[in-house]
Amino acid sequence: MINEKRSHHCGELGKDQAGEKVILCGWVSKRRDHGGLIFIDLRDRSGIVQVVADPESAGTSFKTAEDIRNEFVIKVEGKVRLRDADTINENIATGTIEVLASEIEVLNKAKTPPFYIKDDIDTDENLRLKFRYLDLRRPEMQRNLILRHKVAKLMRDYLDEHRFLEIETPMLCKSTPEGARDYLVPSRVNPGKFYALPQSPQIFKQLLMVAGMERYFQIARCFRDEDLRADRQPEFTQLDMEMSFMDVDEILELMEGLIYHIFKGALGKEIKIPFQRLTWDDAMDRYGSDKPDLRFGMELVNMADAVKDADFTVFRSVIENGGQVKAINVKGYANIPRREADHLKDFVAIYGAKGLAYIQYLADGTIKSPIAKFFTKEQMDGILATAKAEPGDLLFFVADKPSVVAAALGALRIEMAKRLNLIDPNELAFTWVVDFPMFEYDEEEKRYVAMHHPFTSPRDEDLPLLETDPGKVYAKAYDMVLNGTEIGGGSIRIHRREVQKAIFKAIGLTDEEAQEKFGFMMNAFEYGAPPHGGLAFGLDRLIMIMAQRDSIRDVIAFPKTQSASDLMTQAPNDVDEKQLRELHIKTSLLMKKEK
Ligand code: AMO
Ligand code: AMP
Repeated sequence: MINEKRSHHCGELGKDQAGEKVILCGWVSKRRDHGGLIFIDLRDRSGIVQVVADPESAGTSFKTAEDIRNEFVIKVEGKVRLRDADTINENIATGTIEVLASEIEVLNKAKTPPFYIKDDIDTDENLRLKFRYLDLRRPEMQRNLILRHKVAKLMRDYLDEHRFLEIETPMLCKSTPEGARDYLVPSRVNPGKFYALPQSPQIFKQLLMVAGMERYFQIARCFRDEDLRADRQPEFTQLDMEMSFMDVDEILELMEGLIYHIFKGALGKEIKIPFQRLTWDDAMDRYGSDKPDLRFGMELVNMADAVKDADFTVFRSVIENGGQVKAINVKGYANIPRREADHLKDFVAIYGAKGLAYIQYLADGTIKSPIAKFFTKEQMDGILATAKAEPGDLLFFVADKPSVVAAALGALRIEMAKRLNLIDPNELAFTWVVDFPMFEYDEEEKRYVAMHHPFTSPRDEDLPLLETDPGKVYAKAYDMVLNGTEIGGGSIRIHRREVQKAIFKAIGLTDEEAQEKFGFMMNAFEYGAPPHGGLAFGLDRLIMIMAQRDSIRDVIAFPKTQSASDLMTQAPNDVDEKQLRELHIKTSLLMKKEK
């Protein structure tokens, strides 16, 4: 037994402690038996240090070390000593020293873990999620959670300095209209009634502005029952904010300051502010996306003028029917293998493109292309000039309605940049995307829906169009985009009841429905609602990019799988009949379950 308390953390030991006696606690990361000496890599949250057990030294350390296995929890008493020059390990922070153990105490044994507890393992993610507590023991995962903690603290500090109040809002609430499906919670004491888990604290934060809080923030859990992807979880965290008496410029500036503070504080990186601003129209036009990755060029080029007179019916009929013909210029890739070019047709087909035409402008100045025959020499020269093509370049064309052209070429642009390694993983390309359309047309529901949410304020100059031409109304809405990911979004809100009513009408809500759903909010706005606006950052996404990971699951302690389940606890699970009865719930899934 080692009676003394832990004196140091493994990763924090260095030359300064040489000669000192230390007491360490941690897990055995690796144990190596080197003919007489036993080396233990001891790991705690701060890092790893090498412990040596020598049969020659006093104490029982060597005897204990003989029976120790990986992941045992041990306490070590020993002395820090400098390593010989030839045994210095440059790969670990504590590589210049080691701890010569006098006593080792086993605090707990461990079974052999199902995968190695170390960085860069090639283990199936499902196994990692099932044993998440072991996965989180891996240094890279610990670093991610430490980064997350730091960022949250930096956010709190910055916002506190700028007069924000951290206020909690309810988890059991009435549905919030962020456009995803709600998670519902049955009410036992109100038979047949349900709460919704918040998709965001949107309504409450606006009511806090009516309540005179002026500046609010919350690191808030949000719940959305939507199809999951690498950057989407059913429950995720937002840094949610709302401010009174501020216009778009003031809000964006304050948010740039926040992001600057976070990158400086957590990563030591000084990012350039202010960020550039792209209108939504420009972003769609030039990048085919409202969250463009600006770490590389390859912008979409409008080819309509260059091809409209050619004898190519595919392009001509698309233009005549109000569609677009656009191209991207993949510099220096004229020698694309035929098979790759053909496969990319299937790639753009995912986005609805009916074909993918291409022109190879070979280094010797000749043209190779399945569509070359449709163009005269002058027309071809016009095409090359419009696309700023030089010998060696490859042009891809999509002709379709604007939404398909944007989606297909926007995605192809990213795909080609990845294939050709055009993206510098260390670059941080921020941009604001501003002036979103207020509405988008929902083909399925045959009506307009709010693109951001229905509390977003239209631009003042567009108010007259609300009744006549809602499709042309733009909103005071903005997204912050980083490296092609939307990391945050928000807007100036409507604070006048008449405007709110007009918006509800435009999205097809009758007065009664609006009253039933948001009556409490519209009433509140009659008691002196200040002009206000806000924004929410997706905390998980921001941390994912800061930690240079590809999935937000890597920066969430206990995430869910693609099918919204927790492999460790097995949630969601069946519940007792009795529990269901109390909640007045009958499921109709018995048949399915019996299958
Ligand atoms: P929005 O719906 O744009 O806005 O969400 C804000 C940010 O949250 C992140 N995000 C997600 N992250 C992980 N998984 C998800 N399923 C997910 N959904 C969204 C994104 C996004 O930019 N109430 C408004 C904000 C406002 O108007 O102030 C809102 O929720 O990074
Ligand atoms: P076709 O005459 O239909 O065989 O098409 C000739 C070439 O144009 C092929 O390389 C097709 O992939 C391409 N193509 C067809 N439709 C489109 C489209 N909508 N947009 C871009 N290229 C297309």
